[in-house]
Amino acid sequence: MRPFSFNPGPKLISGEGSAAQLADVLPEGPCLFVTDHDVVGFGLTDASRVALGEGGREIILFDSVEADPSKETLLAAVDLGRRHDVTQVVGFGGGSPMDVAKLAAYLLGSDDDLDSIWGVGLAKGQHLPLALVPTTAGTGSEATPVAVITCEGGEKRGVNSSALIADWAALDASLTLGMPRSLTAATGIDAIVHAVEAYTSARLKNPISDMYAREALRLLSANLIKACEEPTDLAARSAMLLGAHLAGLAFSNAPVAGVHALAYPLGGIHHLPHGLSNALMLRVVLQHNAEAARDHYAELAPILAPECEGQGSQAKCATLIDRLDRMVVDSGLAPRLRDHGIPQEDVPMLAREAMKQQRLLINNPCPIEEEDARRLYEAAW
Ligand SMILES: NC(=O)c1ccc[n+]([C@@H]2O[C@H](COP(=O)([O-])OP(=O)(O)OC[C@H]3O[C@@H](n4cnc5c(N)ncnc54)[C@H](O)[C@@H]3O)[C@@H](O)[C@H]2O)c1
Ligand SMILES: [Fe+2]
Repeated sequence: MRPFSFNPGPKLISGEGSAAQLADVLPEGPCLFVTDHDVVGFGLTDASRVALGEGGREIILFDSVEADPSKETLLAAVDLGRRHDVTQVVGFGGGSPMDVAKLAAYLLGSDDDLDSIWGVGLAKGQHLPLALVPTTAGTGSEATPVAVITCEGGEKRGVNSSALIADWAALDASLTLGMPRSLTAATGIDAIVHAVEAYTSARLKNPISDMYAREALRLLSANLIKACEEPTDLAARSAMLLGAHLAGLAFSNAPVAGVHALAYPLGGIHHLPHGLSNALMLRVVLQHNAEAARDHYAELAPILAPECEGQGSQAKCATLIDRLDRMVVDSGLAPRLRDHGIPQEDVPMLAREAMKQQRLLINNPCPIEEEDARRLYEAAW
């Protein structure tokens, strides 16, 4: 076995009402509460905000996080927190509010400059006490050391550092019951891609990330379509939320790769939702990787298709790709770039942009050069 290290995630509380229980573990003093308008409008934050405020804690609400949050949004959240001398940060919502909360807690706690910490391992300071509550299942951002921000020209930039890992996460599946089908599908496929890419991550995959990735894939693949078709099925929603969290723990340690690298320009430039962008690039990137990652894909295939257990690795690998592709279609997502208004002429530009994601591309089981990326976007179009 090659040597490895494994970073555990935050302390976890789960179950209905667990977001309100954060009031018991967070410190006193003003709390920067980072979320978005819709999450507030749906009433999802009510119980948690009441509980946090009960002990006299002032809630400083920042509810203007947009999907694929921008640098300006992040800096506005930091500024609000600084003006109120906050002692802690709560991130409540999908990956977008959670990512803003993570970086806000770090920038407020460390006084570092944002532009000095992009990339891997450069944020080395302290964050303010931080708790995260996911309402999608999901990015797994509540588990990870990663935060993604959309910068100038639509480029998505990431900070990846253990200094961003939250102190607490609360998993309450009842918060995800109201997700519409398209959001359930997109965020669920995102989580599935996290599990698959962690399992084939070229440099840092290890026995513990593998264990989390496999269990995540089992929970997610068995429950995604159920959650899409029966949105109020709490058992399916709970399995999805736990699966997304476990996938987050897996890719925290064994980072994601080519699917995410090629998905990012679709989100950054064309503003497609993150999970949808991943869904659109999934099949073509897995096919590109099939030779290099054949044994790993073959190991995962029986999780989705137990009947392929006795087959050879090539057949199993083809089965995995086929089942995942079918899951995208069954979830109701339109599976091609052209279905989402992406002009075919954009392919060269998308390929050029994807090459900026070297942080992710180095984790792919085989190289993806600009020429490959062009071919893959064409195939996905
Ligand atoms: N930090 C990480 O490890 C990591 C991993 C993957 C993705 N991301 C980032 O996360 C972001 C995407 O996050 P996301 O996919 O969770 O979506 P999101 O946070 O961008 O939210 C999308 C929409 O869903 C709505 N929403 C959220 N919860 C809801 C609920 N329970 N019911 C109804 N509507 C709800 C929001 O109001 C918003 O309109 C991207 O910026 C992506 O880059 C981060
Ligand atoms: Fe993702």
